[in-house]
Amino acid sequence: MDMKLNIAIIAFVSFLYGFSTAQSWVLEISKFGGAPNADITQAFTNAWKKACESTTSAKIVIPHGTYKMGAVQVQGPCKAHIEVQVDGTIKAPVNPRNFKGAGTWVQFSYISFFTLSGKGVFDGVGETAWKRNDCSKNKHCTLLPMNFAFNYVNNSIVRDITSKDSKSFNVNVLGCNNFTFDGFKIVALALSPNTDGIHVGRSTDVKILNTNIGTGDDCVSLGDGIKNVLVRNVNCGPGHGVSVGSLGKYPDEKPVEGFYVKNCTLTNTDNGVRIKTWPSTPGTAPITDMHFEDIIMVNVKNPIIIDQEYCPWNQCSKKSPSKIKISKVSFKNIRGTSATPEGVILICSSGVPCDTVELNGVDLTFNGAPATAKCANVKPIVTGKAPTCVAPAA
Ligand SMILES: *[C@@H]1O[C@H](CO)[C@@H](O)[C@H](O)[C@H]1NC(C)=O
Ligand SMILES: *[C@@H]1O[C@H](CO)[C@@H](O)[C@H](O)[C@H]1NC(C)=O
Ligand SMILES: *[C@@H]1O[C@H](CO)[C@@H](O)[C@H](O)[C@H]1NC(C)=O
Repeated sequence: MDMKLNIAIIAFVSFLYGFSTAQSWVLEISKFGGAPNADITQAFTNAWKKACESTTSAKIVIPHGTYKMGAVQVQGPCKAHIEVQVDGTIKAPVNPRNFKGAGTWVQFSYISFFTLSGKGVFDGVGETAWKRNDCSKNKHCTLLPMNFAFNYVNNSIVRDITSKDSKSFNVNVLGCNNFTFDGFKIVALALSPNTDGIHVGRSTDVKILNTNIGTGDDCVSLGDGIKNVLVRNVNCGPGHGVSVGSLGKYPDEKPVEGFYVKNCTLTNTDNGVRIKTWPSTPGTAPITDMHFEDIIMVNVKNPIIIDQEYCPWNQCSKKSPSKIKISKVSFKNIRGTSATPEGVILICSSGVPCDTVELNGVDLTFNGAPATAKCANVKPIVTGKAPTCVAPAA
């Protein structure tokens, strides 16, 4: 065969091939009866079914416009990579009763290679529900639905998307491996109760990058069973800060290992970076390799805090110490302003004191004067600037 023709054929075939792999099969929500101002619950569920059966990668597109959607639970395993691109605003039902008992508004489970992307907003329309929420006082209160749950999802990414005014937690990540949030946004009022930003439990290799989180509770919180979570270039505030725990309540908890928080700014938050465990509880799973670096605190109430006597609303007895061992913790280059005189609180367990806690360049001020440090059952290794530890008043 003619050499030129040969090359032309190869080029043409690879052009076709590249075209078909780079492009995914696009499923517009309108093809499934979804239209602006309408309820797209059924349309979305049907589109997901089609996309998930596809043997080539498929993309569901929800374009600009405002939509309504009730609780949806979609799941894999799917046959190929699947993407949901949302550029519109999707609103949840106002009344929690209209979730038909679901604990989550939008739930994705048992999927691998999934992408949720777009400039769109998932609006939990939480305001009226928050006002009725009395869960801090009433044990039998109705639990409100979270905006998102990702359960057992691997190799996946949430890009850009905004989570707004969730009725409860914004995002719960459970049992996931290699899961990334990039350019994600969370917006809720500071007075919205229990609206944690992203809670991660029982997961490995989770990254939260370039994300802004403003909420009424923890910005990022870790439950038990964690391996390698990275939080980088994140702005947090308002909210309760970045939190490991609370841990220790249950006997079957798994270890928390590898948490890296880097280049973050916390503004007007109730805590900065915090590790908390309950006293007098059965949990023993250790917490190790927690590293906080290059963090700016702006008017933060407890910028650096390890609290192994965590016991809000006097729910527990402090008679016996926490059984959780905390080790290899570093606070490096942490600067800014504290909203209270004590910038550093390290209250470790008298039963299992903290091991290898490093303060390296901690420069916090309260009303222009250096903030102080209160420490118990820990001997921090100090390099560079850091406040001197004082034992708490007996
Ligand atoms: C996710 O990864 C875990 C651990 O490798 C595996 O057991 C599980 O089956 C995977 N789940 C999916 C949906 O691929
Ligand atoms: C992790 O997930 C990303 C996003 O889907 C994917 O591109 C990457 O290949 C995954 N890494 C591994 C080791 O599977
Ligand atoms: C730190 O984070 C901010 C955003 O919060 C970003 O603009 C900046 O580029 C980051 N710096 C580095 C060195 O990654």
